[in-house]
Amino acid sequence: MPGNSDPEFWRKARAHLVRYGGAFAPVIAERAAGNYFTDAEGRQILDFTSGQMSAILGHSHPEIVAVARRSIEELDHLYSTILSRPVVDLAALIAEVAPGKLDRVLLVSTGGESNEAALRMAKLVTGHHEIVAMSRSWHGVTGGAASATYSNSRRGYGPPQPGALVLPAPDTYRSRFVDGSGAYDWRSELEFGFELVDRQSTGALAACIVEPILSSGGVLEPPEGYVAALAEKCRERDMQLIFDEAQTGLGRTGHLFACQRDGVVPQYLTLSKTLGAGLPLAAMLTTPEIEDEAAARGYLFYTTHASDPLPAAVGLKVIEVILRDRLTERAAELGQRLKAGLQTLQQRYDCIGDIRGRGLLLGLDLVKDRRTKTPDPELAQRVARECLVLGMMTSVVRGGFGIFRIAPPLTIEAGEIDLGLEIFDRALGRAIR
Ligand SMILES: Cc1ncc(COP(=O)(O)O)c(C=O)c1O
Repeated sequence: MPGNSDPEFWRKARAHLVRYGGAFAPVIAERAAGNYFTDAEGRQILDFTSGQMSAILGHSHPEIVAVARRSIEELDHLYSTILSRPVVDLAALIAEVAPGKLDRVLLVSTGGESNEAALRMAKLVTGHHEIVAMSRSWHGVTGGAASATYSNSRRGYGPPQPGALVLPAPDTYRSRFVDGSGAYDWRSELEFGFELVDRQSTGALAACIVEPILSSGGVLEPPEGYVAALAEKCRERDMQLIFDEAQTGLGRTGHLFACQRDGVVPQYLTLSKTLGAGLPLAAMLTTPEIEDEAAARGYLFYTTHASDPLPAAVGLKVIEVILRDRLTERAAELGQRLKAGLQTLQQRYDCIGDIRGRGLLLGLDLVKDRRTKTPDPELAQRVARECLVLGMMTSVVRGGFGIFRIAPPLTIEAGEIDLGLEIFDRALGRAIR
């Protein structure tokens, strides 16, 4: 990609950027609009990751641009105890569309912060400190959220917070828990997981934090019934339940909130990436009873950008567009088209071991051998490189798997889904040669 090899650009990048996530992709992004970004060669690259899984309305959606432009001119940022109309209106709208009685909302900037806010509140109101999380979770890089994150290596950063306990993530494809017929036996796995939790617990269980579909862990979709059974286990132990809907929230999975498929309402629900559709905005939702108790105990989660008007105005517009343009239904429909196309590829490529997920959050699991299900991370990296050369941005999960996370904007057109499938087809063909 010659135009992207601008030596001065890369020299400056090497000299001055911290490598916060391994190697950078070998392209220079110049502009982004709709479902594409444009590189330094003027190539249009189809964004099959919606930025960092966030830009569900595509890039520079005209209505978001208009709101952001007006807000930066009229009402941008305030002292954190000053309220404004966009903040109160967004909190009310989120409460209205959220499941159950999650009527109290804290607006912050990032997913890690929103989870931190929920974890701190759960600790304060229960008086306990133990936090259970899934073995392939990702909840953020700040202290509490990182202590509940297991999909990335914990090596080198010292002790996590005391009381960090882990449950086996529900992996329908590779679980070691299988019944006599070879089917995934999630009930036994969950029983076993909680047996271990009970043995490790010092009697101070505060909360269990869960992504309704574990995205960074490899698009692990709990089977139907799992989440309800998990909620019951939490209830039995007086633990609170936190759903992290950073990636699944606001329509992507074909429900406005992924937990609606499971019919379970948690004590806390967090939103981030999709709420700002690419701008930094996050929310922590809880019930009035819990929030009253937390306030009585002096709950503190005071940040520089708590209740900032500009991102709140953007969030209001994001939800308005999702509801008005029926993007949740669109995600369900286009997700079926995408899944069917991937299944067709699976018939032609033995290296596609599994396809899973819901709506426009799908996983494509590449293996060396379908029988042993041995992951093929090297092949996945080669396919990702070929996709980029062919004009599509993709995401391979970390941690030694060969799993693509496919999460295009909800504004993607059917023809662009087909284009993405065609690029996958050609990239697979080139990479396995
Ligand atoms: C499910 C989930 N929760 C939380 C986070 C952390 O969000 P942020 O990077 O905005 O702190 C992520 C980021 O990938 C995520 O996928």
